[in-house]
Formats: sequence, C-alpha cells, structure tokens
Amino acid sequence: MQKVAKLEAFDYLPIRGPVKLKGPDVGLQYIEFYGTRAVKIPTTPYEVFFGRNVASGLRQLLKKLSLKTRKFIGNTSMDPQLSLLMANQAQVNSGSIILDPFVGYGSLLVAVAEFGVYVFGSDIDYLMLHGKTKPTRIKQQKRAKDESIKANMKQYNLSHKYIDVLINDFSLSFWRDSMEFDAIITDPPYGIREATERVGTEKQNYIVSDEHLPTHVPAKIEYGIPSIYRDLLIFASKHLRLEGRLVCWFPVFREDYTEKCLPRHPCLTLIANSEQPLSKVTSRRLLTYKKVKRSSVDELNIKDANIQDFRDKYFVVREECRRVKRQKEAALRKYFTYSMVEHRTYNKASLSLKM
Ligand SMILES: C[S@@+](CC[C@H](N)C(=O)[O-])C[C@H]1O[C@@H](n2cnc3c(N)ncnc32)[C@H](O)[C@@H]1O
Repeated sequence: MQKVAKLEAFDYLPIRGPVKLKGPDVGLQYIEFYGTRAVKIPTTPYEVFFGRNVASGLRQLLKKLSLKTRKFIGNTSMDPQLSLLMANQAQVNSGSIILDPFVGYGSLLVAVAEFGVYVFGSDIDYLMLHGKTKPTRIKQQKRAKDESIKANMKQYNLSHKYIDVLINDFSLSFWRDSMEFDAIITDPPYGIREATERVGTEKQNYIVSDEHLPTHVPAKIEYGIPSIYRDLLIFASKHLRLEGRLVCWFPVFREDYTEKCLPRHPCLTLIANSEQPLSKVTSRRLLTYKKVKRSSVDELNIKDANIQDFRDKYFVVREECRRVKRQKEAALRKYFTYSMVEHRTYNKASLSLKM
C-alpha cells in the first residue's frame, strides 16, 4: 500500500500513455537512500533519486554462478565476481571466440559464456579435465561420474557456447598458425597452489624406443613464471585478432612493484592494470592488453622477457615468516613456562607460611 501511495505521488508529472508493467517501453525508477547502516534506520530517507532506467546491472549472475552450488569445482576455481570482471575487461560480444589456455576447473569459461561467447580451454592436467582429482568440498568423498567443465556449462544452460577443452602443455602449442581468437582470458599458475610444469626432460638426446612409445608418459620439468608469461605474450601476439584482448593475472611483491616489472610485448599495449591484494606483502595485478599490430618473425621469438620469478622470493619470504613465527612462539612458551614455575613456587611458599 505504502509503495502504491508513493507511486501515485508522481501523478502530477506530465507522463501520458498506458502503463505496461511487463516489458515497458520506458522504465522510470524511484530510489530512496536510508544510509548504509542496518541499525537505526531513519524514518525519512537521506536522499531520493528519480530517473529513467537506461541499463540494468548483472548482479544476479553472482548468485547464479556461485561456487557453492556449482557442480564441478576445485581448489583453483575462481570466484564469479572476479571471473565476470575478467570477462568484462575482455570486451567480448555474442559470437566471439575466446581461449583460456590454463583453464583448470573452467570458472572463466562459464563467466565469459554468459556474455554469449563461444569458449575453448586447455590445460596440462589430465586428471583435472577428466574430473578425477580429489574433491575439495568438505563433505564430498568421491567426485560424481559426470563432474566436468562441460557439466558446468550444462548446469547454466550454456552448452551451446561450449566448444571443447583439450589436454595441452601450453609451452607446446598445437594451434594452427592462422587460428585467431577474439580474446584470451586466463589465470596462469604461480606455482604456489599448483605446479608450474611443462613437458620435457633434463636428459641429453633422450629417445623413447618404439617398444615403449605406446605406454610412455612424458616427463615434466619446471616451467618458471618468466617463461610462462613470455610464452603467453608471444602466443597472444600471434593468435589474437587485431584489437583483440589478453586478460590475465600477474603475481607481485607489493614492495617491489613498479609498472616496469610487468610483462611486455611490442605488439601488445597494456590498457588496464589494477591490484588485488592477497596478503600484507603480495598481490596480483589484473592486466588487460590490446593487440595493436601483427607480429614479425623476430617478435615471435623473443627470448628474454625480463620478468622476475615471483616464486623465488615467495618461498624465501614464507620461510622467513615461518622462522620468525616459530621464534615468537618459542619465546612465548618459555615465558609462560617460566611464569607458571614462578607461580607454583610462590604458592608453595605461601602454603608453607600458613603451616
Ligand atoms: C591458477 S590455475 C587456473 C585456474 C582456473 N582459472 C580455474 O578456474 O580453475 C592454473 C592452471 O594451469 C595449469 N597448468 C600448469 N602448467 C601448465 C602448462 N604447462 N600448460 C597448460 N596448463 C598448465 C594447471 O594445471 C592449473 O589448472
């Protein structure tokens, strides 16, 4: 009733024509602002707003894509808010094609597909893409048979936007030279929660005999952060269409951070760069690059990317923090043991005095 009375208070406006509550040609919106505190709400609003509704947000997608209700998730799944933010940065439209070359549990694919985009993904982890990794939900003992990225797309009625996901080591690209994507959206591994590995061996002139070839599982070697980002930028310079965007995260130590430490490529212009703090000392940058020119042969073979390996310092700092923590805990233990002994001696003394 109160709502209707408020609507009718706008009666004096010279707006004519039939009222269409479903699918109106023009939407008018009235908003009352009562402050941001849930307690002590004033009886009259601080401010009121009245205007024409020109566009609506997509907040409802946060609930729809919530990890709590998603079929297939794991410890690297990215929350919907950040995934949608990345999709937004890529500025892709209905009908575009995107790739996530470090696809993991496919969180970015579902977010991007919500914008009508066709999605491809690849990852080196066979068990993950086949839904065979250990479940991460506390009460779940075993993964369901049909857990997969494809099942997630089906859950959100996005199956028609799913092209496929493939097992692939990113350092050994299998795409045709002429293949171009409208955007590449990805969260490469930092080697903290998941391994940074690529197919390879330290052995010289290693040859697998024909006899062992059918059952041979290739060995893996370390794939450092500088190489991952060098490969990613070269790949983007080759496989993005002109004006297409690369959206990715890059981990940094906050005290060392300057724009100079970010990965660069002559064919890609950095157009956006924002920070998500992860801890007191570390954060990651959300980077958006735009392809501004096609790459020459030299630009496809850049050797030195001049990128710091985040992991080198991460483990040293973590070990240092742990050592300081252990020392503090030992000092506290010593202090408490000492004061308890003192306390007991004091009690004994007062007891003997009483006697
Ligand atoms: C940070 S996770 C990506 C998380 C993903 N956005 C999700 O929602 O689950 C990085 C992924 O890179 C994969 N990866 C690591 N090394 C790789 C390589 N050499 N080639 C392709 N994928 C690799 C890991 O298996 C992992 O799934």
